[in-house]
Amino acid sequence: MRQQILQRVFKVLQVQTNCSNVASERMGTLAKHANQQTDYSSLEYMKPKTGILMLNMGGPEKLEDVHDFLLRLFMDTDLMKLPVQNKLGPFIAKRRTPKIQEQYSKIGGGSPIKHWTSMQGEGMVKLLDEMSPETAPHKFYIGFRYVHPLTEEAIEEMEKDGVERAVAFTQYPQYSCSTTGSSLNAIYRYYSNRGDRPKMRWSVIDRWPTHPLLVECFAEHVSNELMKFPEEKRDDVVILFSAHSLPLAVVNRGDPYPQEVGATVQRVMERLGHCNPYRLVWQSRVGPMPWLGPQTDEVIKGLCERGKKNILLVPIAFTSDHIETLHELDIEYGQVLGEECGVENIRRAESLNGNPLFMKALADLVQSHMKSNEPCSRQLTLRCPLCTNPTCGETKAFFANQKLS
Ligand code: FES
Repeated sequence: MRQQILQRVFKVLQVQTNCSNVASERMGTLAKHANQQTDYSSLEYMKPKTGILMLNMGGPEKLEDVHDFLLRLFMDTDLMKLPVQNKLGPFIAKRRTPKIQEQYSKIGGGSPIKHWTSMQGEGMVKLLDEMSPETAPHKFYIGFRYVHPLTEEAIEEMEKDGVERAVAFTQYPQYSCSTTGSSLNAIYRYYSNRGDRPKMRWSVIDRWPTHPLLVECFAEHVSNELMKFPEEKRDDVVILFSAHSLPLAVVNRGDPYPQEVGATVQRVMERLGHCNPYRLVWQSRVGPMPWLGPQTDEVIKGLCERGKKNILLVPIAFTSDHIETLHELDIEYGQVLGEECGVENIRRAESLNGNPLFMKALADLVQSHMKSNEPCSRQLTLRCPLCTNPTCGETKAFFANQKLS
């Protein structure tokens, strides 16, 4: 590990030597540290120039973390508005804990999201150090919304590390105010609650639904899985792109998520040459209120009833495995429901997880974002036409007004 870190540091500095003589001094300092048996288990001694904050909801790593995860989730007013939320939120979290713990125990006792995000972040910064020496060294930070490391903890670490340039990088390819929006509001609130101005210059990668390498990765995973169907059935397979649903109340205030998920699906199918029929379906609905449909489970049933019994499920709105793939798609639909409906073959495309091409996609996104010198996309500057959350407007202004140079 120590060896690897040193190699990476030297590599960064070697590349930088082309740009600056300061690098040779830094290499000398590092060599001196190496002889002194300094602890190289982190890169803390070397100030990261660019910090990339990987934003996501996160998931409980252990069963005992489930309650606090649910509590933060049900208390997040950017995600959902409940009547008397400070009472109802804790009540629902407590009531749902045993059921959700049971689900996590069936997928190995916890969420793998931190494991995959760390691996993706490592791959991304390694590539970035080579691709973009002028912004190196790069360091990634994980900012989860509902489990540790929380977004606020990550920002604190970035400020402490003396990061000059901070990139808030959503790990949700498609933007929703209830996911990426909530994480960005958390960054804005971090500073406004302290009455503090950031020392770092912030910008945000707020969506990337049609990035060519993302599309390439999804297409690759779909065709790999299609090849696992019996040859004589392959043409008959219906591809179901499944994304987390949203309450219609969120959709109807003008949230861009459904359209952006549709854009990803469209590009992936174009890349695949429209090899099979497909639908975009929505999963994980909870509660009695109306949600965006059609629902994944109902579509599986409907297809089976109509004799379409070869189905490929493709998680299209998350980039690594989580409870909704490992439990909902694989166990609830792939095993239990599939058997009930009498499917012939039902499979799921692998999540992008440790795919090296995906790490390249992440690195490419950061590099082109930094080059653009834009604080955020134009699309981020527009509030949902029926938004009633004043923080959204303040957050958008916070990012749009960052001075990058
Ligand atoms: S809910 Fe979309 S901008 Fe506020």
